Amino acid sequence: MKIAITSDHGGNNLRHEIIKLLTELGVEYDDLGPSTDESVDYSDYATPVANGVASGKYDRGILICGTGIGMSIAANKVKGIRCALVHDVFSAKATREHNNTNVLAMGERVIGPGLAREIVKTWLNTSFEGGRHERRVNKLMELEN
Ligand code: RB5
Repeated sequence: MKIAITSDHGGNNLRHEIIKLLTELGVEYDDLGPSTDESVDYSDYATPVANGVASGKYDRGILICGTGIGMSIAANKVKGIRCALVHDVFSAKATREHNNTNVLAMGERVIGPGLAREIVKTWLNTSFEGGRHERRVNKLMELEN
């Protein structure tokens, strides 16, 4: 599995923490920045990750900003993306099982690194259940047409 990860200035610290986790887990990733702590616009960073997942270059994406909200809104505007803003482990599991999300957004100003690490581990390790959820996800994707 290959992951693309990014943040804005509001998510830099947590992004570095999650990169440490991906390295520990042996998960392949590309860090799409930013490379400084300067103030940047979250949509400029969410879009390359979302496009990379939509095109198949990456299997999944992880987005971090102050709240996770701006990043998740931006990602969900890209065709093929199902991004969930997640701040608890239950939702991390459910959004993989039920929504087959391919992008995860989190807010550094909302949760601490310990919980964020558990969320990422759960989200990466949980499979889509398919069945009735496949029908529902297909209906979601039809909304793009
Ligand atoms: C940046 O100050 C902040 O607005 C951003 O990180 C994010 O929370 C937006 O949704």
